[in-house]
Amino acid sequence: MVEITPITPADIESFHRTLDSVARERRYLSFSEAPPLESTRAFVLDMIAHGYPQLVARAGGEVVGWCDVTPKSGPIDARIGVLGMGLLPQFRRQGIGSRLMARALADARAFGFSRVELTVYRSNANAIRLYEKAGFVIKAVQPAEAPDDAIDKTVLIMALSLETAAGQRPC
Ligand SMILES: CC(C)(COP(=O)(O)OP(=O)(O)OC[C@H]1O[C@@H](n2cnc3c(N)ncnc32)[C@H](O)[C@@H]1OP(=O)(O)O)[C@@H](O)C(=O)NCCC(=O)NCCS
Repeated sequence: MVEITPITPADIESFHRTLDSVARERRYLSFSEAPPLESTRAFVLDMIAHGYPQLVARAGGEVVGWCDVTPKSGPIDARIGVLGMGLLPQFRRQGIGSRLMARALADARAFGFSRVELTVYRSNANAIRLYEKAGFVIKAVQPAEAPDDAIDKTVLIMALSLETAAGQRPC
């Protein structure tokens, strides 16, 4: 059974292993390995301290996936969150990503983010389908920074307005 819960300090090493494993696939994320463990620890503790959404999928006591929403840098972007997520290969295509996304968006709305953005490679059909089902739309397309013959790394920038979804108006 896979449970979705907020991350805790005890999850950090397991989360770091999963992040590193997905990064090393070199197909989906913009980095090819996880940051050092201590940087990851500092990042997670900061997320927890601020109450930013960071969910993990846990199976057998291990973190097998994550979904987080970090604030976009810059004061003018204070209410915009940037979403990132991933699952170990054996846990994909079972609806776990959809569960992580639903919980992360609920938490992002409760936190007060007005909009959530993300980037995804054009080749990542499974992720794009999941994002479109959640209501994200493509806002911009950027050429790949380092073209790759095997994978289309054209970057799609997608966004979802939480205010519209919640029936609210910008102040
Ligand atoms: C992207 C990712 C998080 C999605 O999570 P997931 O658990 O695999 O997705 P789900 O099982 O919830 O399926 C989501 C949707 O993807 C689509 N999907 C599922 N299997 C698919 C397949 N084989 N091909 C294409 N689309 C597929 C379906 O539309 C599905 O929705 P539905 O079954 O409810 O109709 C996961 O695949 C993953 O970790 N990929 C590698 C890392 C990654 O890409 N991270 C995101 C970087 S932007």
